[in-house]
Amino acid sequence: MDTRRVVEVLNSARARELAVIIQYMEHHYVGGGLEGLPSLTRQGLGDMWVRSRGAGLTSRIMGPPDPIVALKSIAKVEMVHAERFANRVTALGGVPTVRPGDRCKASSVIEMLELDLAAEEEAVALYTEYLEVCRHEGDEESQTLFEQVLQDERSHSETFRSLLEGRRG
Ligand SMILES: [Fe+2]
Ligand SMILES: [Fe+2]
Repeated sequence: MDTRRVVEVLNSARARELAVIIQYMEHHYVGGGLEGLPSLTRQGLGDMWVRSRGAGLTSRIMGPPDPIVALKSIAKVEMVHAERFANRVTALGGVPTVRPGDRCKASSVIEMLELDLAAEEEAVALYTEYLEVCRHEGDEESQTLFEQVLQDERSHSETFRSLLEGRRG
């Protein structure tokens, strides 16, 4: 197994995760401001949505997520991804990167959601490629990690796509 190559793709994935954490949290706060939501309401809704993910009861009562609320929830999932990639890099004897990849700026909530959807679609394409690298190198653990993260990224793509459709009407 070419460990150096596997660490390279894991760190590239981690850099991407770090970038979207910043992007989504920025969109959560700036987008909330654009929507005219008071910061405490925004924070309360965000935390309520995050807490309800497991049980599903509050999310059913609340209906479909508000984009501003969903962004915070998704950013927290990306934080878990970044950490899982770091753990795998460490296990392989590498050093997890702390440098975020490039991120995009937006000036409206629709523009934000378009960028966020593009980021998720890019993640699906990129991680599918990285999964193949791990398979080729015979690293089953990293392969499983990419498979699991890919499931989340596909679900994020769906969420952003439906939020965008809801916005466009
Ligand atoms: Fe992610
Ligand atoms: Fe994602």
